[in-house]
Amino acid sequence: MDNKQANVERFNAKATEWDDDPGRAHMGQGVAHAMLAALQPTGRETALEFGAGTGLLTRLMAPRLARVTALDSSSGMLGVLRRKCADLHLANVDVVEGSVPEQLPDQRFDLVYSSMTLHHVEDVPGLLRALARHVNPGGRVALADLDAEDGSFHREVQGVVHHGFAREVMGGWLRDAGFGDVAFSTAWTMRREGTDGAARDYPIFLAVARKPEH
Ligand SMILES: C[S@@+](CC[C@H](N)C(=O)[O-])C[C@H]1O[C@@H](n2cnc3c(N)ncnc32)[C@H](O)[C@@H]1O
Repeated sequence: MDNKQANVERFNAKATEWDDDPGRAHMGQGVAHAMLAALQPTGRETALEFGAGTGLLTRLMAPRLARVTALDSSSGMLGVLRRKCADLHLANVDVVEGSVPEQLPDQRFDLVYSSMTLHHVEDVPGLLRALARHVNPGGRVALADLDAEDGSFHREVQGVVHHGFAREVMGGWLRDAGFGDVAFSTAWTMRREGTDGAARDYPIFLAVARKPEH
């Protein structure tokens, strides 16, 4: 089974119970808070969220943006997100099934954002180069994921291809993809038991970068 299919199967199987873990909802709140503080959106931005999952971040970002395309490769996760958008009357969210980088929508956005999805993507530098083609000049990316960890974060390894990322490596990839004004902060710290049973802090970085106007 290839990595893409492994992720689809993993998240389809988890979709209906994904939101039952309060740690995930707290992380969504923490990451949304950090993203909104860093981005200070005007409310006129069009946005792409990839790896939107069940919308734990989407539901907090969408009210502050003009329109959000919420993309994910798992139909199960998107089923939960569609119901959430209906329940919360989030009429500015377009839910789209697709995998990055192959099925990025054929349009450009003012903002591309994501949380906890990059570590499932094999070719992250290639994805960042593809994202640069889908961001308007002057637009931004906001990417949150695990800082480099020792492999103890995931109890299930199916579909996980990176044990987090070193910030200097991610920053270099963003610059190589053509982004500037690269800035890192810590969006959230998740405390939980690692695979060996010992509790640890897992910091989650937020990288914000801008595509030059020219
Ligand atoms: C760990 S979950 C995070 C979901 C959500 N961002 C959150 O914070 O709750 C990762 C999500 O990325 C999706 N995903 C994984 N690889 C993907 C890819 N290549 N393209 C699009 N979505 C992907 C999965 O289906 C899943 O919904």
